[in-house]
Formats: sequence, C-alpha cells, structure tokens
Amino acid sequence: MAKIIAMMNQKGGVGKTTSSVNLAACLAVAEKRTLLIDLDPQGNGSISIGLAKDTFAQKNIYHALIGQIPIKEAIYHSELPCFDICPSDNNLAGAEIELVSLIARESKLKNAFRTIEKDYDYIIIDCPPSLGLLTVNALNAAHSYIIPMQTEYLAMEGLAQLLNTVKIIRASLNPDLELDGILLTMFDSRSGLHKQVANEIKTHFGDVVFNTIIPRNVKLAECPSFGKPVILYDIESKGSEAYLALAKELILKERFKNSGSSKQEETPAATEEDEIMNMIPSLENINFDEMTVEQ
Ligand SMILES: Nc1ncnc2c1ncn2[C@@H]1O[C@H](COP(=O)(O)OP(=O)(O)O)[C@@H](O)[C@H]1O
Ligand SMILES: [Mg+2]
Repeated sequence: MAKIIAMMNQKGGVGKTTSSVNLAACLAVAEKRTLLIDLDPQGNGSISIGLAKDTFAQKNIYHALIGQIPIKEAIYHSELPCFDICPSDNNLAGAEIELVSLIARESKLKNAFRTIEKDYDYIIIDCPPSLGLLTVNALNAAHSYIIPMQTEYLAMEGLAQLLNTVKIIRASLNPDLELDGILLTMFDSRSGLHKQVANEIKTHFGDVVFNTIIPRNVKLAECPSFGKPVILYDIESKGSEAYLALAKELILKERFKNSGSSKQEETPAATEEDEIMNMIPSLENINFDEMTVEQ
C-alpha cells in the first residue's frame, strides 16, 4: 500500500512543486514506485516533468475528481521507470466550485486512490497555494504531510492557520494524519538571515524539521523548463544531492517508525500541531531587521 504524502503550505513560492517533483523523482530512483499527483490548477508540476499539455487535456486529475473517469486513465508514465504522474491544468480551478455540490466532496481524492494505492509505494500530492477544498481533499486522502518553508523573513506567517486547518481535518475527517516534517527550502548559506532563520527554526522545532535542508540552487530553477526533474538534468548539482538526501531521510524515517522505535510513537500525533503552535510566538520575537534574537 502506498504511503500518501501531501506537500502543503498555503503560501505560494515556498517550494511545494519543486519539492514534490524532485522528491518523487528521487524516490523513484531509489526504486520506490512513485506517483506524483498535481493538485494545483497552475499545472507547474505536470509541465516540470515534460508532459505536453495537449496530451492530458482530456484526461487529468480534474476529470478523475469529478468522477468522469477512473483515476487510472489519468495517469501517465514519466521518463523514469518507477515514476508516474497524474497531471492537472487550469480546469482544476473550476473543480473547487463544482465539487461543492457533490456528495462526499471532501473525499473524492481519497476514494479515487482506493483503486491505485496498491500499485505504488509513495503517492506525493503537490497542493495548491490555498486551504480550500482541493487541499482538504489532499489532507483527507493523505497519511502524512510535509510543510516546505523558506528560510526567510515572515517564514512563520500563516503557519498557525495551516496547523489549525490540519487540526480540523484530523478532528473531522482523518484522525491518523501525521506530520512528516517541516522542510527548509531555498536556503542560501551565504546569507546571514537565512542561517539565522534556519537555526532558530531548528532550535525551536527540533525533530519536527527535516535534517536535509534544500539549498537555493540554480539547477532546481532551470530544470522545469527542460521538462526534467533535477536528477535527470544535473545529477551532480547541489539540488540533486539535497533531494536524494531527503528521499533517503524519508525512507529511513518510515523504516524506523515501522520498526516500532520511533519518537513519534512516544508523542501522540494529535498534540504535534499544538506543540508547534505554542512555539510560534517565541519565533515571532526574533528581530530579523537587526539580526538578533530578543530574549
Ligand atoms: N531550491 C531552489 N533553488 C532555486 N530556485 C528554487 C528552489 N526551489 C524553488 N525554486 C524556484 O522558486 C519558484 C517557486 O517554487 P515552487 O516550487 O513553484 O513553489 P510553490 O509550488 O510553493 O509555489 C520556482 O520558480 C522554482 O523554480
Ligand atoms: Mg506549486
């Protein structure tokens, strides 16, 4: 059965799509059968792995969500053997409205997955930059979620709202939803501010933050225009190294958890969001302008 992971943050431009595409490709390279679900009407993830828009205009995630076709018909192979994608285009923007009138509108994705989850080891969902019905569908269908976050001023802004949404989903739809971790993205090691923010987030959030930090790397920004994940574009780049490390960290975390000795089992998942939310005020005291931390 697939482990289903939602890459979510309602902020745009934090690295959700870059992380979804490249994490999925790296898991596939590790011979994990991986499906990327592009749940953003902008369709950037679909284009990033080289699918031509007209090949999937009639059969994509939109048609599967509104029940026109089985999701299997909306799945396409990528260049990599273990890596499939269910693409999206701007039709999906309408789904948010069309779904409202449907019965079990928040479970459409979850139900669609029933027919395919045995075919994959990982399903990665690239969420849109909102907390609307598409993201609710993703969080209802997922086993866990990852929060990509830039090491920038105002990185925490919106985090409380995001965690509140997760709490509501947990209470109402998906009690087993877990946080895989916060993923720091676009990190520039030459920037004092980035170092400061990364250190503060790691110090405050501890194990909740992935050890792997994604650096700012021009190859990651270039590869979508070549229709390739970074490992096929430049395997020696820092971007490739980072996403391979992230895939490894995720696989090992999962193995560790399944072996029954995980820290996550000591800390019930239901309290994780509360713990993080309690930490946010102390992070807000960082005076980024003066690059000092107020005690
Ligand atoms: N680590 C990185 N280094 C350089 N550019 C990046 C990196 N991650 C993302 N980008 C670029 O930043 C922009 C926003 O990233 P994207 O993954 O699309 O964010 P989101 O999906 O959260 O909106 C894109 O142009 C992308 O190519
Ligand atoms: Mg995106």
